[in-house]
Amino acid sequence: NGHPYFSTELLAWYRAQKRTLPWRKNHDPYRIWVSEIMLQQTRVDTVIPYYLTFMEKFPTVQALAEAPEEEVLKCWEGLGYYSRARNLQAGAKMVMELYDGIIPNDKEAVSGLKGVGPYTSGAIMSIAFNRPEPAVDGNVMRVLSRFFCLEEDIAKPATRAGIEKLAAALIPEGAAGDFNQALMELGALICTPKSPGCLTCPVMEECEGRLAGRELELPIKTKA
Ligand code: ADE
Repeated sequence: NGHPYFSTELLAWYRAQKRTLPWRKNHDPYRIWVSEIMLQQTRVDTVIPYYLTFMEKFPTVQALAEAPEEEVLKCWEGLGYYSRARNLQAGAKMVMELYDGIIPNDKEAVSGLKGVGPYTSGAIMSIAFNRPEPAVDGNVMRVLSRFFCLEEDIAKPATRAGIEKLAAALIPEGAAGDFNQALMELGALICTPKSPGCLTCPVMEECEGRLAGRELELPIKTKA
């Protein structure tokens, strides 16, 4: 069940306002993969310099797969969550062995790579290949919980599953990558956790959470 107002306005806003970020230069799936792994637990501003260095040292899947692990970890120093780096390199080795160094345009194959969960596979499929897959992280759950005034507990797997279905239904024809990044961008820049900038939000006119005056209560999340 789509929502043309939401999808159209959000996509237009993103295309007009999006930040120039190093992983938005092209759609190379390797570059998207690395960016999404780095961005999982780390803010954009922190990630940028690490990303640039990492891409210079390991410009291809092959370069990453063949590098000594300590070199990879050295590039990650300060980013934290080092298992992300180890898994990324293990994933690169899988791509070399299983797919000749080419990240496949195939959701199941990408989902099978070490360190790639549902969010990351959705991000890679949509941003790199423009496939209509949802990419739902905490930011996206917040945006959609507020806009649709969803009161289910986002800590519950069933709630996430429902939001993934909704997010998939909202993707405009042929614009999966931009639309998913638009959701992330809105969550990062405007629909922030504590002081959302509703007055500059491109979809505020029909935001159910805002209309109910409940944007700060949403999303509902029980356990940490
Ligand atoms: N956070 C997660 N993925 C992102 C992306 N592609 N651009 C900006 N922020 C993000």
